[in-house]
Amino acid sequence: MKLDIKVVQDNMKNKFIPEIKYFDSVTSTNELALKMEDNLVKEGLVIIAGEQTKGRGRLKRNWHSPKNKGLWMSIILLPEQNNKDKYALLTLIGALSVQEAIKDLDINSTLKWPNDILYRNKKLCGLLSQFESIGGSIDRFVVGIGLNVNQNIFNDEIKDTSISLRMIKNEKINKENLLVNILDNFSNYYSMFKNEKFNEIIDTWKKEMSMLHKNIIVNSLDKKRYKGKVIDITKSGELKVQLDSGENKTFIAGDVSIDKNSLKL
Ligand code: BTN
Repeated sequence: MKLDIKVVQDNMKNKFIPEIKYFDSVTSTNELALKMEDNLVKEGLVIIAGEQTKGRGRLKRNWHSPKNKGLWMSIILLPEQNNKDKYALLTLIGALSVQEAIKDLDINSTLKWPNDILYRNKKLCGLLSQFESIGGSIDRFVVGIGLNVNQNIFNDEIKDTSISLRMIKNEKINKENLLVNILDNFSNYYSMFKNEKFNEIIDTWKKEMSMLHKNIIVNSLDKKRYKGKVIDITKSGELKVQLDSGENKTFIAGDVSIDKNSLKL
């Protein structure tokens, strides 16, 4: 069923989200959020769609966004550029907000750096942040969230790696309540960010993260492959890895997987 935005707006406790703009069908909510004219943009504006015809995923992948089956949305932020080195935390707080909301459904998920939410190793939610400078000292930062809610089937390409809340709970999920929770959580975390409580955000993230102290393989943006053990998340949200060579390396982005060979040792 189509999302009832009025119910969501009436039930949100926070005052941070000024407006939720709903569209039945868009190419990508991130694309819309980035293209929107400056005079229409307000901090906290949420763009949400019933379906996306060209949903964007990380690493130039597509994000499958079938009609009325998930929450496909972008939250627009206008952060001060002096915190630019902390922007990765804005994606992390998006993931924390979703994870907390699904905990209320008694679902225990894990966070996979940099921005996936997994349930038993299958993907429940992906986040894609994009930003651009809009002049002055402010940037337009878009936190894109794709949460699989009510699918009962996935196409062949992703069926082994994806899961929805409905599949976990074996019942249809109320999207309005879920969205209210996510946006209320986000507003709390964003106020932590604005108050520069970066350590608290990172500590919460580390508690929920699946890969700390695990042996992993990173396929980095420079198309190189690194093996090592995750030792930390830095204050800016980067992944710190002790490589097999003994050297420490931090990654700002990349595709990370558990090194299955290390489990056999
Ligand atoms: C990923 O895991 O690859 C990230 C997926 C992000 C998907 C969301 S859905 C809403 C927003 N708009 C987009 O085009 N993408 C993000």
